[in-house]
Parts: sequence; structure tokens; C-alpha cells
Amino acid sequence: MKIVLAYSGGLDTTVAIRWLKETYHAEVVSVSVDVGQEDDFKKIQERAYLAGSEKHYTIDAKMDFAKNFAFKDIKMNGLYEDVYPLATALARPLIAEKVAEIAKKEGTEYVAHGSTSKGNDQVRFDLALKTVLSDVKIIAPARIWKMTREDEIAYAKERGIPIKTESSKYSIDENLWGRSIEGDIISDPYSEVPEDAFELTKVRKNDKLVINIEFEGGEPVRVNGEKMNPLELIRWLNQEVGSRGFGRVEHLENRVVGFKSREVYEAPAALTLIGAHRDLEKSVLTPRELRFKRYIDSLWADLVYQGLWYEPLRDTLEVAGNELNKWISGEVKLEIDRKSMSILGRKAKYSPYSEKVSSYNKGWYPSDEEARGFIEIWGLHSILTKKARLD
Ligand code: ARG
Ligand code: SIN
Repeated sequence: MKIVLAYSGGLDTTVAIRWLKETYHAEVVSVSVDVGQEDDFKKIQERAYLAGSEKHYTIDAKMDFAKNFAFKDIKMNGLYEDVYPLATALARPLIAEKVAEIAKKEGTEYVAHGSTSKGNDQVRFDLALKTVLSDVKIIAPARIWKMTREDEIAYAKERGIPIKTESSKYSIDENLWGRSIEGDIISDPYSEVPEDAFELTKVRKNDKLVINIEFEGGEPVRVNGEKMNPLELIRWLNQEVGSRGFGRVEHLENRVVGFKSREVYEAPAALTLIGAHRDLEKSVLTPRELRFKRYIDSLWADLVYQGLWYEPLRDTLEVAGNELNKWISGEVKLEIDRKSMSILGRKAKYSPYSEKVSSYNKGWYPSDEEARGFIEIWGLHSILTKKARLD
């Protein structure tokens, strides 16, 4: 029996290598997928071998993640429950697909991942794997073994398995699009989130940062006039915006598995880009298009969060989203100052905005007669209905 394991290098999946070998007398092939987390993949590979992996793969999926997942999130303004830019949720199907490719290559249908039975991640991994590998047999050791964190550490010690020494007390998932932090004191929803939970948004610079982001067809292409590829652009913003402390999200989230959970995120680039993109949409789309877009945006975010990446409706929503994004080109100027972002101004290529029409100082004014006529007919529904209810 050969099992391909999605290996992050953390405590759970390191213990899982040995546990899978002992429990199933299996050969374990470990796969680490680079989706832009700041990790040392050489060290991760070393740890996998020391824990007992027979063969290790490191797959570079950073650019794929930036282009095909993070950029989609910008175009669909993907924010679950209006706040969470979906970093963890978006990476799961991509990681699952890469692991599935290795399972095919290795000729096995056994695939393992480290998610617990309480989380969203198990739903995302299982559903992605079932979709791309029809005969897959999924093993989620953490759903079976009933070990606590302390038990896992003891298990590793007994067997001389090296674990990450700087293991955090929080449960952390990180990639290019953001960092998700849960657990420990954060689980008390009244507690203030301690500063030591943050990394990307630790304040390191106190000056104001003014940036200009240029979009073409709904996608950011230039920052301060400099052309950057998706990976460079997201990294630059995470660094520069994050160092001024902007990009934190704290909320009580409704998980797929039926309970609420206190969640903290750091996503400087994601929140900046979605904020700028939404602003540009407002400058361009008609009020009806805008309401429709906000509606499909929220449906899209729900599908991604809930592990329904392969639900056909997602494609339909994206077709509509792309159609509207064709017109989202232009620049947004914004300021990052002490943990907050404000939009300073925008210029949109296809904006119907006209200063001549809207200004009080010059240009076009409806005549008194035109204004009266418009208001008369505009208010008719309300006036007639109110009257009818009085009679
Ligand atoms: N609640 C978030 C989500 O569902 C974050 C999950 C974090 N995952 C983790 N393995 N720590 O996307
Ligand atoms: C897990 O329980 O595996 C992580 C948290 C989550 O998936 O929501």
C-alpha cells in the first residue's frame, strides 16, 4: 500500500507520516505545495525524510495560485461574510489537485491530509480530491487518531521525530494571499487578540504610504507606475502595506461544520486590492450592474468558503463577473496610515462620471419644469399607495 500525503511540514502532518506507516504498514510519499508561504522547503523535505517519508515532492504552485486563484478573488471581490479574503479556502483545491497528480503518477488511490473533523479544510480537501480522482480513498489521520497537541508532541519525541522547534501556540495556515490564525486564547471571543499572533501586519514603519494601483480588465497590473507580475505585485503589497499594520481581520465566523469560530486573518495585499477594485467598479458600473455584482460576489465567496469550488455555478458566476470586469480599467490612489486604508481618488477609463453633469458650479442643469416632472412621476408609487391605505 502506498499513501500520498499532503505535507505542510507542521506538527500534525509530520506525526502523520509515521502514524500512517505504523497503522497501515504503508509506504508514504509526501508532497509539499508552495502556494507562497514563507517556508524553507529544503527543511520541510528534510523533516519529511526524517519522519519516514519514502519519497518527497516539492511543487511550486505560487504563480498558478496568484494568477488563477488570488486574481479571481479580486475580480469577484471574494470576502466571506464580508471580511475574510479566503486565503486558506482558495489554496485547498489547488493543493488537492497537485497532490492528486502525484497520486496518479505514483499509481495509488490512497491520499492523506492533515485536517481535523471540526474544520472547513477537511471539506475542501475531501471534495476536491473526490472530484479530480474518482476512485480516491481518503485518509485523514487527525480524524481518526484522537491525539491532542500534547499527545502528538509526545508521540514525536518517543520516536525521535524532529518537529518544528518554533511551533506556534496558534493554529496557523499561511500562503501568498494571507495568514489565518486560530486557537489558544483567540478561541475566547471576548479576549483581545495578542500582538504575538501577528506577523505580516506587525507595525514596522510609521510613515504614510501613498500608492497608485492600476487595473486592466479588473486585474491589477501596475503599482506606482511599475509593471509587476501577479506574484511580485501581491508580495510587494503584503510587504509595504503590512509593515504599516493594515490588513487585519478579526471576526466570529460561521464554519461549514455547524458552529461559530473566532478567526483572525492578516491579508494586507488582498484587502488593499479588493478595496481598490470595488472602488473602481463603483466608478464604472450602472447601479443595477453594481447590485447584481455584489450579489454574485457573495454567492461566489460562499461557494469558495464552503468547499464547493467544483460546483458548476462558480463557472457561471465567473462568466458574468468577467463580462463586467472587462470595463474595470483605471487607477486608484490610496493611503495606508497606521493600520487603516483610505481611498484618495480614482480615474476610470470607462466611467460615465461627468463633472459637467454633477458639478454645482458649471454646465448642465435640468430646468425647473424638467425637475418637477421627474419628481412627480418618480414619487407616484409611494404617494398613491399611501393614499390608498388611508382611505
Ligand atoms: N477559518 C479559516 C477557513 O476556513 C481558516 C482555516 C485555517 N486553517 C488552518 N489549518 N489553520 O478558511
Ligand atoms: C482544521 O480543523 O483542520 C483547521 C481549521 C479549519 O479547517 O477550519
